Amino acid sequence: MPRSAETENTKAKNTASSQVATNDRPHGRHSLSVTDNRTGKSYEIPIENGTVRAIALRDIKTGPDDFGLMTYDPAFTNTAHCKSQITMIDGDRGILNYRGYPIEQLAEHSTYLETAYLILNGDLPTRQQHEEWAFEITHHTFLHENMKRLIEAFRYDAHPMGILVSTVGALSTFYSEAKSIFDPVARRQQVVRLIAKMPTLAAFAYRASVGLPLVYPDNDLSYTGNFLNMLFRMAEPKYRPNPVLERALDVLFILHADHEQNCSTLAMRAVGSSHPDPYSAVAAAVAALYGPLHGGANEMVLRMLKEVGSVRNVSEYIKRVKQGQVRLMGFGHRVYKNYDPRARIIKQIADQVFEVTGRNPLLDIALELERIALQDDYFISRKLYPNVDFYSGLIYQSMKFPVETFPVLFAIPRTAGWLAQWEEMLLDQEQKIARPRQIYTGPPRRDYRPMDERM
Ligand code: CMC
Repeated sequence: MPRSAETENTKAKNTASSQVATNDRPHGRHSLSVTDNRTGKSYEIPIENGTVRAIALRDIKTGPDDFGLMTYDPAFTNTAHCKSQITMIDGDRGILNYRGYPIEQLAEHSTYLETAYLILNGDLPTRQQHEEWAFEITHHTFLHENMKRLIEAFRYDAHPMGILVSTVGALSTFYSEAKSIFDPVARRQQVVRLIAKMPTLAAFAYRASVGLPLVYPDNDLSYTGNFLNMLFRMAEPKYRPNPVLERALDVLFILHADHEQNCSTLAMRAVGSSHPDPYSAVAAAVAALYGPLHGGANEMVLRMLKEVGSVRNVSEYIKRVKQGQVRLMGFGHRVYKNYDPRARIIKQIADQVFEVTGRNPLLDIALELERIALQDDYFISRKLYPNVDFYSGLIYQSMKFPVETFPVLFAIPRTAGWLAQWEEMLLDQEQKIARPRQIYTGPPRRDYRPMDERM
């Protein structure tokens, strides 16, 4: 693949035209005119999709020995690192679409497996495509028996996310063809395996962590029904999931399937850009998701609600948040500066779930936190609204998921998004190994001194 030649061409097309007079613009009105006050030279930089290419700044130099300008953007708050056709978020208006389909419509009419197909393939499946896809996923849910021994090796109180990071990475050792990432057949095979096996890994990790015998997949059940079976089946010969809870979990999976360039997706793309097999890249993505600011937030919300303990203590807790002592977990988002549309849907699901399980006593604390926060200038001025994690933990807890499995419940459905983003990155002619720049602020060159001469 003539990747580098293509990239160079694109680069050449997009660099700054140096020293143009601002009234002489080859890119018309779709350009940015910049004057470097160090040299007095003016440059014209093309604007494409509301962005300028950072590499165009490299032409802006004080002299031949100057490296050229770079952008400094810690945490990528204003940098697009890829073009993507998968997920669109309008954070100001609270809109989320997968491949153009609004999340509200998918949550109402679709299933997780159908949505995963959409995210991975770009369009909703026909009936036949859906049947084939569901059949394939259902028939790849089993794990190699050695995986059981690997899972048994963890300490009795191991966090299921720690087990998931390790076991999903270990899967690469079972499928040597997974390294053939530019072979479409091998690539698709690993996509199917990963989507199919993540629930089994997660369920095994949980059952092992509580000392229960592992439950094998049941091919008669749906994707989420089977997951519930592997988690909760005890002595009954056939596990029958409650249809309301099975559907609720399926909708939660739809809501978590992708979310454009979040921290774990960035990890997936960045690790994938050095071309390891997808199991290794997914292990990196799961690790990124584990943190309390990302997928670990649903677990932290529940711990926070327990800490608050009662509606009476809510005002006091909000005070501590405003003093910067604690964060209101499940609130705020880098992109949404309006109500997270997923949180709105989750609130509706919560009502359906609580009809079956009984009302979660922590719900009143959550509702009071939200009520007070949404009236408070601290939250209003910072545009902090409930995000996807604020209510999902309450649902999971009511469905009897142990709190440690909450981030795992995020990792399973997000696997579809990670894989779609990984494949898009691999096939994108403009992408290459991820390698940001830095501004060095350490000491200048100095000489090594023997130990007894050091202060
Ligand atoms: N509680 C209190 N203050 C907050 C919160 C919060 N949850 N989130 C942001 N702020 C304040 C923050 O202190 C800062 O205030 P100031 O301007 O006075 O310094 C301002 O709001 C901007 O915050 P930021 O940290 O610069 O925003 P960010 O875009 O870097 O962080 C975030 C986004 C999601 C990490 C953050 O809002 C947060 O920590 N939320 C709690 C954790 C959470 O719920 N995470 C789940 C995110 S949604 C699911 C997912 O995608 O993983």
